[in-house]
Amino acid sequence: MEKILEVENLQVSFHTYAGEVKAVRGIDFDLKKGETLALVGESGCGKTVTAKAIMRLLKEPPTEIKKGSKIIFNGEDVIKMSKKRLSSFRGEDISMIFQDPMTSLNPTMTIGDQIMESLIIHKKLNKKEAQKEAVRLLELVNIPNAKERIKSFPHELSGGMRQRIMISIALSCNPRILIADEPTTALDVTIQAQILDLLKELQNKFETSIILVTHDLGVVANFADKIQVMYAGQVVERGSRDEIFYNCMHPYTWALLSSVPRLDTKSKEELYALGGTPPDLILPLKGCPFSSRCKHCMEICLEEAPQKTELSNTHSLSCWLQHPYAPKVEKPEALRGERNE
Ligand SMILES: Nc1ncnc2c1ncn2[C@@H]1O[C@H](COP(=O)(O)OP(=O)(O)OP(=O)(O)O)[C@@H](O)[C@H]1O
Ligand code: SF4
Ligand SMILES: [Mg+2]
Repeated sequence: MEKILEVENLQVSFHTYAGEVKAVRGIDFDLKKGETLALVGESGCGKTVTAKAIMRLLKEPPTEIKKGSKIIFNGEDVIKMSKKRLSSFRGEDISMIFQDPMTSLNPTMTIGDQIMESLIIHKKLNKKEAQKEAVRLLELVNIPNAKERIKSFPHELSGGMRQRIMISIALSCNPRILIADEPTTALDVTIQAQILDLLKELQNKFETSIILVTHDLGVVANFADKIQVMYAGQVVERGSRDEIFYNCMHPYTWALLSSVPRLDTKSKEELYALGGTPPDLILPLKGCPFSSRCKHCMEICLEEAPQKTELSNTHSLSCWLQHPYAPKVEKPEALRGERNE
């Protein structure tokens, strides 16, 4: 399958008064046509910064995409794109649904005008054509009574509808890649499922590649083709959906999976919650970034960062437990069933 995006050794820092915040510390991945990649990890691990760096949406300075970082879209170097090219890249090749639809939509403009804006700029439609296309896009994302709805302001719509509007804006120019940053976090479970189904349906229709950003592994169970688990600005484990759900090996992935509610959990069992907090990204990291919270931490983990171990073409992780001399550690009991979903 054709690779549409290749990210190599991406490093992103923020220069602040307190010092350099190394938010993304050398991550690699690729994305193929029609594929869905999930970026998963706790708050602050660098998911949004990674997504925004790919779109070159971070203000540079104070942000710095470090030398040696590579972002290649369809053979083209995104870091070297001119301002003009970036503007068409963002509208036509790649687009993003942001974490909070209420703050991303303009409260003073009708949703019709907001959808039409991008159609007029990027697709060069006239007002009448853009209006017709806006109605079609609203129908595509299952907004009832679309002709009337385009006259509404964002505050007149429910959270689920606002998220559908964001999707319709993001898809208005048929992008090759859609980045969905926590697209369902603010929504209740039923609406979450509807939004994910809608994204899947649109992806199949248009062969869009999707990067789904989320802190919740439960959300990606039926959605992602491959999963990348991030911690403190690094990828600690990556694999196909099945490799992560059946056979994950990193203690942090175990912790994330153990905190996903499961249908077979006995009702009185408390859901696992990982204690402690991630490291401060302004301080130098020594050893494994997860060491202060890992119950399998060994002496070496405090001294040296673990090397990457490849378990298959698609499955890899960075953890000293993979070293041949490391003690054998069983994965948590809750994850020893048939499937960890
Ligand atoms: N403008 C900024 N200046 C300084 N540090 C920043 C800035 N933006 C983000 N960071 C830091 O970069 C790190 C990664 O942030 P990011 O927004 O990517 O996290 P995230 O994984 O998306 O978390 P969440 O799940 O809460 O959205 C965090 O430690 C954050 O504090
Ligand atoms: S390298 Fe050590 S501290 Fe890090 S996850 Fe593995 S066992 Fe835990
Ligand atoms: Mg985020």
